[in-house]
Amino acid sequence: MNAPQPPVSYPFSPSHAMKFGTPVPDMGSGPIPAESVTSAAYFEREREQIFKQAWLQVGRVEEIPNAGDYFTRELHVFKSNIVVVRGKDGAVRAFHNMCTHRGMALATEACGNTRGFTCEFHGWGFGLDGSLQAVPAIESFPGIDRSRLGLKALACDTWNGFIFVHWNPQPAQSLADFMGPLARDMDGFPFDQCQHIAHYTARVKANWKLSIDAFQEAYHATYLHRHAIPGAGDLELALPSSVRFYGPHRSVSCWLKTDIQPTPAEAIAYKHGSFGFVKADEGDTRGLNPSGDESWWFDINVFFPNFFCDLGRGWYFTYNFWPVSENDTIWNMNIYQVQAATAGDRLAQEFTRVVLRDTVFEDMSTMEFSQKAFDSGVITEQTIGDTEIAVRHQYWVADEWVNGRRP
Ligand code: FES
Ligand SMILES: [Fe+2]
Repeated sequence: MNAPQPPVSYPFSPSHAMKFGTPVPDMGSGPIPAESVTSAAYFEREREQIFKQAWLQVGRVEEIPNAGDYFTRELHVFKSNIVVVRGKDGAVRAFHNMCTHRGMALATEACGNTRGFTCEFHGWGFGLDGSLQAVPAIESFPGIDRSRLGLKALACDTWNGFIFVHWNPQPAQSLADFMGPLARDMDGFPFDQCQHIAHYTARVKANWKLSIDAFQEAYHATYLHRHAIPGAGDLELALPSSVRFYGPHRSVSCWLKTDIQPTPAEAIAYKHGSFGFVKADEGDTRGLNPSGDESWWFDINVFFPNFFCDLGRGWYFTYNFWPVSENDTIWNMNIYQVQAATAGDRLAQEFTRVVLRDTVFEDMSTMEFSQKAFDSGVITEQTIGDTEIAVRHQYWVADEWVNGRRP
């Protein structure tokens, strides 16, 4: 970044400028060394200094509406499988999915409903609150203290229906403090009125940060997405209109060119529908467009380290990037839309689902090549332009955390 002094406007074209809605941290301006996406030792430091120190989003409350509902998640970055469960008291809790007797997994399904967890190995029984309630032949464990042998908990809290966990059962920072003003900018969005319309997942042989890069800059959209998003190829669509930094988190608003010629499929999909991915529309703007941009399209909201919650009018989608190793990442995408009220809305929803599928397929097509280039040692650094400033912010924040500092 060429040391912008906020507020600053960055002209792309006579019709468009990028502005900064918050002060820009001093992140340096040089190339980004490849080491942080190739080094196993650096990844081990990220595991300890980032992923075990941050709140991580693992699900939504609609997945476990009733007492006893649970889901499990394989979190390689913790070397653990976790179970998230709603208790009889309505509280959502998270535990390592490991029996405290000799380590057998307690929940072996991806999701379900149960009155408690009974271990398949020797039959120890745990309540939905994690307490150890039953030990067969307990007299064979002289002096056993059941109160010390409850399930190992993670901290668990929610924001707007999103469930987050923290490695430390008693983290120094609350979820609300961690999410800070970025979450407050998004409050008011009708998350609770949206329905889940699609889930996509992929495992990518690429570093988690490299995988994220492809989704937090719009520079690539005009070229890479010229097939999936009609009109993207005219070099103006999807350029960022404003960028904000909130401690470790960041947000980018994208600009929508309004004179795009719709394709025949778009014209049909959006003729009678209210909402769509590539449609600017009138409507509720609560939680959206925090910098008040003109010709606003949608907000890319990135909660450090690995959770995206992108918001548009009537829809949102999330990404989670779960590292397995320094060059292996599991990517999840979930798409949500306001409940369809008409057949036209339903058609527009389906079209959106397909457009997003094709768009992310294009995104995924690049990152393994980049990883190979850096692993080879031939390309030793990333050169970052001003429209990719969110990418620079990510590497800077990650490096600060790895070194024990917390912007
Ligand atoms: S490992 Fe669970 S009861 Fe023994
Ligand atoms: Fe993209």
